[in-house]
Amino acid sequence: MLSDNLASAINDQIQFEYHSAFIYKSMQAFFESEDLPGMANWMNIQFQEEMSHAEKMFDFVCETGHRVVLQGMDTPHHEYASPLEVFEAALGHEQIVTSRINALMDLAQQEKNHAAQIFLQWFITEQIEEEATANHIIAKLKRVAGDGRGLMMIDQELAQRTFVPIAAAN
Ligand code: FEO
Repeated sequence: MLSDNLASAINDQIQFEYHSAFIYKSMQAFFESEDLPGMANWMNIQFQEEMSHAEKMFDFVCETGHRVVLQGMDTPHHEYASPLEVFEAALGHEQIVTSRINALMDLAQQEKNHAAQIFLQWFITEQIEEEATANHIIAKLKRVAGDGRGLMMIDQELAQRTFVPIAAAN
């Protein structure tokens, strides 16, 4: 159902999704150290989401008769000047993910692989939400411009985020 070429490309994205999870876990650690538990919670949920993205792709590759091969990961960045810088880094990362998912879809379309296109459509839609959410938080952080009270309110709001498993979300 998948060409070796397409399976290999999705395998690379599995690796990237685990790497994404690692980056967000590092961002959580930063916020924990800054006593911003709501933002730390938000990043921990993001970590869980990235893990679930990796697992969804992992299962797809296995179900199509291919073998997933994992590799080591780079050390994630762990120093930031401000919460705004963290969320801007998160947005930048999501924009890279979006371009990678789009490239996977291009490949699936070139190969006329309809099953892969249907599978990847979920991730195309997910990336719209991923970028929009990061943009929304960045806008709020810019609005409060480092004001402590405003920052606390955003932190409390981000503390409300909960993890919704993919199966339940669809
Ligand atoms: Fe798995 Fe945030 O993209």
